[in-house]
Amino acid sequence: MLVLGIESSCDETAVALVADGRRVLAAEVASQEEVHARYGGVVPELASRRHLESILPLYLLCLEKSGRAATAIDLVAATVRPGLSGSLLVGEAFGRALAAGLEKPFLGIDHLEAHLSASFPEGLPDFPALGLVVSGGHSSLFLVNAPDDFRLLGQTRDDAAGEVFDKIARVLDLPYPGGPPLERLALQARKPVRFPKPGVRNSLDFSFSGLKTAVIYYLQEHPEAGAADVAAGFQAAVAEGLINKLDYALGRFPVKSVLTGGGVLANRFLRARLEAWAQGRGLRLYVPGIERSLDNAVMVAVRAFYRQTPPPGSGRRR
Ligand code: KG4
Ligand code: ZN
Repeated sequence: MLVLGIESSCDETAVALVADGRRVLAAEVASQEEVHARYGGVVPELASRRHLESILPLYLLCLEKSGRAATAIDLVAATVRPGLSGSLLVGEAFGRALAAGLEKPFLGIDHLEAHLSASFPEGLPDFPALGLVVSGGHSSLFLVNAPDDFRLLGQTRDDAAGEVFDKIARVLDLPYPGGPPLERLALQARKPVRFPKPGVRNSLDFSFSGLKTAVIYYLQEHPEAGAADVAAGFQAAVAEGLINKLDYALGRFPVKSVLTGGGVLANRFLRARLEAWAQGRGLRLYVPGIERSLDNAVMVAVRAFYRQTPPPGSGRRR
């Protein structure tokens, strides 16, 4: 089954053609970083306009690179939630119109479920699995019973992990998006500052605003503090907070594997901490490659494939 995936929920326009949920025939991403960088965050109106400009050329490029004709597409899928409404509408309207023109079905996809499907092309995990999404807009924990069965266990009560990376980066005078430059700065740390682990006690929900405030106060009270030591301490606190939450979830849901996804997983320090944690717990950890951790359309096509053709005995079909 050949699925065309479309992603436009935030500031990346992405289109991909994926066969049978595994073989990526083409995958294109147009990042809008340079459009929003000067504003220090995503400007929704500019994002939708840029999606509109990018989406058709990306689709045509995917067809060309894959060597397939449009008529070979069996299913069109686009992210329809959650995200910026104007941006989502561009992808969904394009996808629906294309599907109508090709006389093929259209499926609307959940962005967080797509993030957790990003490593499925490398082989399905043993289920049940915990699913951790850490992105610019979301920090969410799922119980994944099958490739088509996602149950939300908890989410952030305030800022998302990536959002806090971006805010702390701004305080440290780093460019937007803040995650990558903050990670690079942290590599120069000599004595990382110890910050309290973020989280909500006895709950599957996350909270990162306390850590954000702690870092900002620390910088005000210690103007002499080295930016690299603050960055490294902050990054470590985020990692420990996420691991604490996974441990708490593991106590309640004895799973076999852990799926991860979302832009913050591009962080090498966090990847290494999660790897070490999973090894210590005897769990198999699935972390998509960096390109597939960030917003992309392969994950949308893969999610759509498993909604359309769930493996036998794999739970509900919507
Ligand atoms: O998943 P994503 O591409 O878009 C959303 O769905 O939000 O995630 C973007 C977020 C941004 O907040 C960005 O700063 C963060 O991921 N990010 C990182 C790194 N690369 C991207 N955070 C920490 N370390 C990184 N290397
Ligand atoms: Zn995302």
